[in-house]
Formats: sequence, C-alpha cells, structure tokens
Amino acid sequence: MKLIKLLLKILILTMVGCTSNKSIDTNREQDIDNLISSMTLKEKMNLLHASGSFQSGGIERLGIEGLIMSDGPHGIRHENGNDYVKDSIDTDSVTYLPTGITLSSTWNKELGEEFGKVLGAEAKARGKDIILGPGVNIIRSPLCGRNFEYLSEDPHLSAKMGVGYIKGVQSQGVSACVKHYVANNQEVNRGTVNVNVDEQTLREIYLPAFKAAIEEANAYSIMGAYNRFRSEFCSHNDYLVNEILRKEMGFDGLMISDWGAVHDTKQALENGTDIEMGTDLKMDIIDYNKFYLADSAIAMVENGLIDEALVDDKVRRILKLVFKIRDFKRTEEAKTNLPQHQQVALQVAEEGIVLLKNEEILPLRKASIKKILVVGDNATRKHAEEGGSSQVKALYEVTPLQGLNNYLGDDVSIDYAQGYIPTLENKANEQLILEALNKAELADVVIYVGGWIHNIGDMWKGKAYDCEAGDKANIDLLFGQQELINRLAEVNGNLVVTIVGGSNVSMSGWMDNAKAILHAWYPGMEGGTALSNILFGEVCPSGKLPMTFADSHEEYPAHVIGEFPGENDEVTYNEGILVGYRYFDTKHIEPVFPFGFGLSYTTFSFQDLQLNKNQDNIRLNFILENTGSIDGAEVVQVYVHKKDTKVNRATKELKAFDKIKLTANSKQQVNMQIPISDLQYFSNESNRWELEPGEYEILVGNSSRDIFLKGTIAL
Ligand code: BGC
Repeated sequence: MKLIKLLLKILILTMVGCTSNKSIDTNREQDIDNLISSMTLKEKMNLLHASGSFQSGGIERLGIEGLIMSDGPHGIRHENGNDYVKDSIDTDSVTYLPTGITLSSTWNKELGEEFGKVLGAEAKARGKDIILGPGVNIIRSPLCGRNFEYLSEDPHLSAKMGVGYIKGVQSQGVSACVKHYVANNQEVNRGTVNVNVDEQTLREIYLPAFKAAIEEANAYSIMGAYNRFRSEFCSHNDYLVNEILRKEMGFDGLMISDWGAVHDTKQALENGTDIEMGTDLKMDIIDYNKFYLADSAIAMVENGLIDEALVDDKVRRILKLVFKIRDFKRTEEAKTNLPQHQQVALQVAEEGIVLLKNEEILPLRKASIKKILVVGDNATRKHAEEGGSSQVKALYEVTPLQGLNNYLGDDVSIDYAQGYIPTLENKANEQLILEALNKAELADVVIYVGGWIHNIGDMWKGKAYDCEAGDKANIDLLFGQQELINRLAEVNGNLVVTIVGGSNVSMSGWMDNAKAILHAWYPGMEGGTALSNILFGEVCPSGKLPMTFADSHEEYPAHVIGEFPGENDEVTYNEGILVGYRYFDTKHIEPVFPFGFGLSYTTFSFQDLQLNKNQDNIRLNFILENTGSIDGAEVVQVYVHKKDTKVNRATKELKAFDKIKLTANSKQQVNMQIPISDLQYFSNESNRWELEPGEYEILVGNSSRDIFLKGTIAL
C-alpha cells in the first residue's frame, strides 16, 4: 500500500515538474497552477486551516507539508504537542531576546535587523517556516497587557524598527508574520470588541507599521487581529484585507488569522483569510474539519455559493510561501544559541535600558564601594517563560542580581533582600520591608529592582499585568513597592531604582527620593549583565523612551475621553491622531518623561542646521558633537511642525531618527532626509493624502521636548 502511494506521488510530482525535495522555483507560477489543478477541493481546503497548534495542513499525496509556525516576537517558543502543553524535551531552549519595546528603545535600526536575524536563524534551526512577529500594534494606553511585545506609541518608530526586524528574519529564509492587523490595542475583550477609528487616524497612526512591513520589508505574512474593526472581524474584514492590504498595498503574501479569530466561513473565504489558525482548547479531540475554512467551506463551494477560484487564490499564495521558504538556500547551517546571538541580546539590552534620572550617582565606581544591597523581587525573577504566547524557554537568563554578582565578583560584597512579594492581595509585607531596611542601613548603595511582572498564577483568569488576555487596572506600583522605596530612601540616600516592565509606572509618589532611575523593560537573557554594565559605566546608556511616561493612565488621551477599553464591546478612538506625545505636546500637558527621552553619561551638542530640498526630499545636515569625556551614542530625532496649519494635525510628528555613536570629544556631520510625501496628512474630506502648502518647521533634538535646532522650509 505504502509503495503504491509512493509511486503515485512520484508520478504526480514528475507530471508537474517537481519533487517534494527539489521544490518549485518561486517564479514558476505555471508549476504552482499545475499543482493546484491536480488537487481535489478537499486537498485544497486542507491547506487553509490548522492541522496542529502551530501547523497548517498539508497534502501528503503531493508531498506538500503544512507550514510550521512559532511564536513569538522575542524568541522561538518551546516545542509543544497539539494541545499547547510544553513537550518535556531539552533541545528547545533558545536565545531569549529583549522584548519588542526594549528593541525600539534602542532606536537603532541596524540592531533591529540583527535582532531579526537571530530570530530567523533560530526559527530555521528549529524547523519553523513562520515566526509570529513582530507585534507592531500602537501603544495607545500604558495599560495594554501586551505593550511589552509592541514597539511604540509612534507610527514612524514602529515602522522603522519593524522593517529592520522583518528584513532580518526573512534574510534567514523564514517568514515574519506581522501582527496584529489592526487596531488590537487592548487585551480586555480583544476577541469581541468593535473598534471604530476614523480614516485619518487609521491611516496616520495605526496602519503605517503594516504598510512599511509590506512595502519596505516585503513581509511574507500578516496576522489578522482578534477584534472587530468597523463591525467586521479583522481576519476577514473586506475593507482592511481586500481593499487596503491587497488592492492598495499590493500585498500578495499570506493573511493568517490569529488563533481562533475566524468567525464566519463566507467572510473568511471572500475577505482574504488564507489560513485559519487556532485550537479550541475546550475540545478533547480537536476536529480541524470543523474549522470555518474546512468542511463548511467545501460545502459552500460545492453548492455554488462560493467560486472555487477564491480557494485557488489562497492556495496559490500558500504554495508561493511554501516554496519560497523551502527553496531558500543557506550559506551556513542555522543554529540556536550561538554566542553571537547572546551578544545581540546583550547589545539590545544595553542600548535599550533607559536612564531617566541621575543625580550624580551613576556610574557607580567599583573602587569606592564596599557593600551593595540589592532589593526587589525583580532582581532575582526570571521572566522568559511568562507573558502568554510570547513565552520563551531561555537557555539561561541572567537576572539583575546575578549580573551584579558576575560583574563584581569578590571585589564588593553584595547582599540581597526581596523587599516585597508579588501576591494577588497586592499589599506590602512589613517583615520583608524591615529586613530590607536593616540591611540598607549598612550598605554604601542600594540598588532596587522592581516594577511589573508578566503574570501571577493563571493569566487566563485575569491574574496578569504585562501579559496577554488582560490589561492593567492602573500604573501604580504593586505589592507595596512605593512604600518600600520611600522607606529605603529614608535609611539610605544612595538609592538607585530600576523598573522592569512593559510600560511605565506612576512615579510622583517616590521619584524625588531616588537618586537615579532606570527603566529596563524586559531586557532578555542578558538583562542582568546589561544592567550592571550600565550601572558601573562599562556601557554609556543610550536608550530613549518609545512612549510617553505620564504619572497616571488617566492622563493618556484614550482614558481622558473615556474610551479604554470601551463599553458594551464598542470602543471609539475619539482621541483621533492625538496618541502619545502627539497629544501631550499638542495640548501642552507636561509628562513625567517625554517621548524620545533618555539620559547619557556624556553630553552632546547639536549645531549648524542646514536645510535644503529637492523634488522629493527635505535634506538636513548638522553637526553633532560628543562634548563629554566618555564615548557614547545619541539618538538624533527630527520632528516636523506645520506652521499655521488649517487641518487636524499634531503640533509635532517624528519623521526621521538615527543613532550616532561618537567617541569622547569628537564631532560628526549628520545627514538625514525626509521624503516630502511623509509630510502629507490624510484628509477625511477628500479621503486621500494631501500636502498642505506653507511653512514647515524642522525640529532637531533628543526628545519630543528637547529640541536644539530649528529651521523652516516652505513647500
Ligand atoms: C496571540 C498571537 C499568537 C497566537 C499563537 C494568540 O493568542 O494573540 O499573538 O501568535 O496566539 O500563539
């Protein structure tokens, strides 16, 4: 029987000019068409839905294997069976990279590409065809549970960092899957909520990262979000997929649904879903034939309700990707856990950790310190395996305490006090506080490491903070941390506070008592090494905030207007384009730390801005000087302000940035350019992009509120 099957397979494959090992050349569309015409409807449909937790269906008779996918944005997920249960094998540990928001905090586009290469190579080594990332959803509120995976509140920064990541992944012969398309900006009710966004806001804020992914990075696949958009589910939304993705952006890659995000067979067939993924955990035995793009879809075609050509289009797109991936020739064998991968993890953490405050305490000098006290649960907690679908089985994870121990060795004595315990009761622990205070009295310096955690216990039951399936209630420090910090400061003035977390915490209640504050995000497997390198001046900090830090979530526009997370499953983004600093700057509201902000151990000066333009671009150049005595890097940020605008426009919009490394006391001419088309706004009246004539101010600085050079250009 087996032999007959094999002979049949060879026969068919020879007919269409390929074998399963020597697959079809991507450009040989005719071959793909021949292959499609040799398939039964049932076989075609097999390709269109999951056949496992992370695998789409294949066609055994034709030697076509399904696509193998893996989360997630910052490391390849552990292997698992068909039921999300982790396999207990010891060969699936990988590089745990810093999470998405840490990556964008570096503002280093090249590093974005290196990050993607690590992911792509490790995905390849683990036999994956598609990596489910990057997550490019805009940070609309600091409460969103998945902000730690996302990139920024700003569309330009999200787009540019996303492009690097995607190019890096795909350079390794693995497809990126850019998620979650679109307007998936909260976790509460993510599976049902209907998001209403006006056209200008959609185009200017929520779409650019996806557009850049397709047009600049040639992303091979996109994941449709769980939520609805203007009443239709995103994974099969006629406007979003057929009109915008396919027609306008010319996307010919795969539209893969989020897991369980398909809700209607006809819509999925007609409105663009290519592969329906998901696993119904409630079913003991998963019957993939019951998926929307399975038996019911076959019936629709057979009954003449749907043209089979629609199915063929999907199959064609799938086969193109299958062959693109399987044909890919590597120059060297892909491997996991290479030292250079860990080096990328380290560099991203070192460049992504943001120094927010420093009253002449950092960098610490090893020689003048005898005793350090490290306080806080996050100094010893590992985060890799938490957070939902983005969990990673890290080969190792250097915690902040380990990082300090490794760095200081026996030269300095290090003591540790936990200080607080993450519990659902969310309260201070007096005994732990007293222990920390007693030890703090004896230390030269106290290094506090606290902030958020991903989840406590069962994330699906709402016991989550920086995690899928839930949003935070507010941004107050949990578990009595504020009280702990303030009491520590009373007994030891040399207090350095490091906050770990996917977004900010409220700081007004304690920040004056800390001599230095760092925001470390989730810095990955080398996070502890990176942190000690920064604390002790081995590395000069250069991370900049990819989101505005205000003191309370209530200050952010979505909350000011009462539209987060919405009511009765409806949320309307009435703040429009005024998201993040666009809102704070336009409305003159002082944040605690502005977008783009981050301190350094050295100082930079910006001089001599020259502007000119040609047909397509505004070109600018200026001198950047490292005026301090140590080597460092500055992120130069270019914002544009339209003078006397008559249209709905934020007072400042980021249009270009670059990270420049400069040795001490040296200077460099920086050349940048902004495509004039990027200065257009999307008009709700004419329903197209328009360029408003008049004067544009070009603002150069190192945060949205620290502008050092200004020039005007008339368009
Ligand atoms: C998440 C996706 C993820 C998928 C597969 C979903 O719940 O929203 O981001 O890729 O699961 O794990």
